[in-house]
Amino acid sequence: MTDKATLTIGDKNYDLPILKGSTGPDVLDVRKLYGDSDHFTFDPGFTSTASCESKITYIDGDAGILLHRGYPIDQLAEKSSFLEVCHLLLNGELPTAEEFTKFERNITYHTMLHAQFDSFFQGFRRDAHPMAVMTGAVGALSAFYADSLNVDDPKQREISAHRLIAKMPTIAARAFQYSQGRPFVTPRNELSYSENFLRMCFSVPAEDWVPNPVLTRAMDRIFILHADHEQNASTSTVRLAGSSGAHPFACIAAGIACLWGPSHGGANQEALEMLEEIGSVENIPAFVQGVKDKKYKLMGFGHRVYKNFDPRAKVMQKTCYEVLEQLGINDPLLHVAMELEKVALNDQYFIDRKLYPNIDFYSGITLRAMGFPTNMFTVLFALARTVGWISQWKEMFEDPSRKIGRPRQLYTGATQRDYVPVEKRG
Ligand code: SDX
Repeated sequence: MTDKATLTIGDKNYDLPILKGSTGPDVLDVRKLYGDSDHFTFDPGFTSTASCESKITYIDGDAGILLHRGYPIDQLAEKSSFLEVCHLLLNGELPTAEEFTKFERNITYHTMLHAQFDSFFQGFRRDAHPMAVMTGAVGALSAFYADSLNVDDPKQREISAHRLIAKMPTIAARAFQYSQGRPFVTPRNELSYSENFLRMCFSVPAEDWVPNPVLTRAMDRIFILHADHEQNASTSTVRLAGSSGAHPFACIAAGIACLWGPSHGGANQEALEMLEEIGSVENIPAFVQGVKDKKYKLMGFGHRVYKNFDPRAKVMQKTCYEVLEQLGINDPLLHVAMELEKVALNDQYFIDRKLYPNIDFYSGITLRAMGFPTNMFTVLFALARTVGWISQWKEMFEDPSRKIGRPRQLYTGATQRDYVPVEKRG
């Protein structure tokens, strides 16, 4: 098989090198196409475009496979921990016991925030959406760290990565406590990453906080499931912002802003609110008809890449059962979700469009059972995805061919014309 494709435009042929990955689709290298042919490629939404080379995450959408540095997500969710997955995503390998101890210590000793930073939250209304708080707070973090800004220095990139992974739980917990009118809780170094986060969210000064190992494990697993996902919209946002050399914390704030959208990370909140709106199994047929009439989308369903089950959704469903059982909760919305899934998976409309549950379909029921309000769901997604964003940002800077991202366009506006004085208009 030749290692090039030939494009014919008019009476000219243009060779496009075919680049092969370790697995997945090959790519046509079009980097020289505009210079040679005076033509752009056109792919709004990037449905057929690879924006970069990466070694971090691989998704086979047809087979429903998700690998992080080659390890299947279901194995990592079952056998690993979020901090171990952070090391894997950042450094490319699962850590040895010694490497993990060092990595965990680096993260643990960066969880505190500058004392002055807490007053930043006071500028928000108590009823501000926590994602608005997160976008502002993480962006503001760049004002507190004027050191380690040389993004071309690997050591400084590593410090920024550790700081972000470590501080996101502290900021997210503050956004939650602030919205609830409760005092902020300082991180504790003797607690694990997920235990520390749950304590900062749910402990109150009036009594000792007792960790629940099932909920801690569930939280850690939920973080693993949300850690990274190839070149999704928010990761592409972080890469594009980072390509200009912007402050890494500001780039992550850009990623948080993008993730907030209902088509992306905001879908977990939308999916639970959709289940609440449906309310009971009896209302499912009418709701599904509304989807087919294109009045609204089935939130938590469908995916740009997965045209089969999202492997994370299966683990999320299992975790949902475990949490509800542990808490002795019989949530009627779980029955609605399961029936809705069954109806959708057997309906030709959804089958024809290859629409399956994605990670957001069951996460909301689980998080609500754990005590989080719906407006915190995407904050938890952003907390977990920070390691994916910063790992992809770091990989971009390790690529010697790195360039600032600057897409072109198909221009269909007015061609050149002369200025018209106001008295001659209309
Ligand atoms: C995440 O990219 C990632 O990896 C994201 C993510 C990550 O970890 O980073 O996985 C996280 O964002 C998961 C997705 C969460 N979003 C939702 O659950 C919102 C609902 N889903 C849809 O908005 C939609 O499925 C998208 C946005 C996720 C994907 O849309 P695409 O790939 O652009 O597909 P499309 O809009 O071209 O849809 C193809 C057809 C259309 O119908 P027709 O015009 O052909 O008749 O499928 C329909 C769409 O209308 N369709 C849906 C649907 N999703 C697509 N119809 C009903 N309900 C849906 N959910």
